[in-house]
Amino acid sequence: MLRLASLVVLASGLLQAAVALDPSGPAQTYKRCQRKTCNNPTDGCPAGTLYVAKDDPKANFTSIQAAIESLDYSSPAHILIAPGNYTEQLNVTRQGPLTLVGMSTKPWKGEVYADIDVNTAAQNDVQVWWNSANHDAIFTDNVFTGVLTVGPTLNATLTGSGPTGFPVPENTPFGCSDFRAYNIDFRNEFAPYSDGPAHAVGVSRANAGFYSCGFYSWQDTVYVGKLGNAYFYDTIVAGQTDFLYGFGTLYLEKSTLSLRSCGGGITAWKGTNTTFANKYGVYLDRNRLVASNATIAAKIVGKCALGRPWNSRHRSIFMDSYFDASVKPAGYIAWGSTDPRVDNGTFMATWRDYGPGYNETAERNSGGVTLVLNDEQVEPYRYPADVFQRQDGTPGYVEWIDQSVLFSG
Ligand SMILES: *[C@@H]1O[C@H](CO)[C@@H](O)[C@H](O)[C@H]1NC(C)=O
Ligand SMILES: *[C@@H]1O[C@H](CO)[C@@H](O)[C@H](O)[C@H]1NC(C)=O
Ligand SMILES: *[C@@H]1O[C@H](CO)[C@@H](O)[C@H](O)[C@H]1NC(C)=O
Ligand SMILES: *[C@@H]1O[C@H](CO)[C@@H](O)[C@H](O)[C@H]1NC(C)=O
Ligand SMILES: *[C@@H]1O[C@H](CO)[C@@H](O)[C@H](O)[C@H]1NC(C)=O
Ligand SMILES: *[C@@H]1O[C@H](CO)[C@@H](O)[C@H](O)[C@H]1NC(C)=O
Ligand SMILES: *[C@@H]1O[C@H](CO)[C@@H](O)[C@H](O)[C@H]1NC(C)=O
Ligand SMILES: *[C@@H]1O[C@H](CO)[C@@H](O)[C@H](O)[C@H]1NC(C)=O
Repeated sequence: MLRLASLVVLASGLLQAAVALDPSGPAQTYKRCQRKTCNNPTDGCPAGTLYVAKDDPKANFTSIQAAIESLDYSSPAHILIAPGNYTEQLNVTRQGPLTLVGMSTKPWKGEVYADIDVNTAAQNDVQVWWNSANHDAIFTDNVFTGVLTVGPTLNATLTGSGPTGFPVPENTPFGCSDFRAYNIDFRNEFAPYSDGPAHAVGVSRANAGFYSCGFYSWQDTVYVGKLGNAYFYDTIVAGQTDFLYGFGTLYLEKSTLSLRSCGGGITAWKGTNTTFANKYGVYLDRNRLVASNATIAAKIVGKCALGRPWNSRHRSIFMDSYFDASVKPAGYIAWGSTDPRVDNGTFMATWRDYGPGYNETAERNSGGVTLVLNDEQVEPYRYPADVFQRQDGTPGYVEWIDQSVLFSG
């Protein structure tokens, strides 16, 4: 019965796009708060919700960062943001739960955000812009380019360099325990090509969930730093070079990777040796890898690598995902020809992917660079509860994820 119902939905989805996302819809937790209301903008929102708008006398603040800075360190808070383009850098250092709610009618109508294809694009009504790239090392660290940074201190959010990155002081506290954003775009459009690291978001020593959000940049779009846990659901991540990178744990569900061109790899991860068996890495489940438009699609056939090892402990898995023809048949690549960074601890893998860009034979012929997993090998990493850990390694750390969309098989 279930199977029949999903076949019917799949068939009707096929009429609109070549490949439909699983049709179970967006996170609707804040749909009443998010929809436009007549008199009181925060109708349907949790009590005490702050309201940000650029030009509405009812607003508590005209900038999002001013609203964030008005909050205390630890109590739960919600901020509703009116439609508009906000040009500002956001920096969340507080420990208490914080939810940024973008005004939108999409969740109310049950409309997903990420179901774009090569002929369509999407944008949220609320957009935060900061155009900045660390080209020619003009900044001491990539963190200074970010549209949104979630982390307790500046040191905790630094990318650093070398195989282990910046040595964050041991006594640094954990940052936001439960940061969330719904229906917001984070755009860093410094130049329309890779011109140095340009973060749309950075999450370090903190937990962050993003629902129906967009992340647009060209290089290093999404950074998940040390002890960072990030969960993305129904999102679009656009980039060209190494655009999912970091040290922490990132799980992307039902999202679209919009390939603006190809450089480096889609994923570039640095593993860390810990006393416990960690699961740091990037896990992509039921996503779609799609060229950002038909013009670029024609130029990048077979060219986009799934990833490359920022250090040899890189771990990433593309699971049950659709690859358009842009994806390189062999899958992953070594870091560089004289500095491959691939050894027996490198784990760059695929599992049950499909589509015109997926070629299992070519992956198996990659000389061990791309690992094609069987069901047993993927099991330890399959669902969010399998990979997210507390700082001390305790597994099953998912209470900060919106439980209405949490997938557990
Ligand atoms: C926010 O604005 C609303 C409506 O003007 C007001 O009732 C509320 O007290 C304000 N909240 C804060 C924290 O200033
Ligand atoms: C925000 O910027 C985008 C892209 O430039 C534009 O399409 C959109 O209309 C703008 N939104 C508003 C509310 O001005
Ligand atoms: C974020 O805010 C903290 C606390 O004010 C500050 O130390 C840090 O430099 C800021 N981070 C960035 C990237 O600006
Ligand atoms: C940040 O790290 C640097 C280098 O380790 C250190 O000198 C500095 O004291 C740290 N800053 C803070 C605020 O802990
Ligand atoms: C297509 O995508 C490329 C790369 O993302 C961009 O530079 C170009 O402007 C886009 N063309 C159209 C027609 O949208
Ligand atoms: C982790 O340990 C392995 C095996 O000892 C070593 O080869 C590798 O360089 C270490 N990596 C890091 C990032 O410390
Ligand atoms: C990787 O190779 C090294 C040296 O050849 C060996 O000592 C180690 O046990 C191997 N590790 C794994 C996970 O196979
Ligand atoms: C897949 O890769 C193999 C090995 O490189 C190649 O022979 C084959 O033609 C490819 N298949 C497709 C459908 O491109």
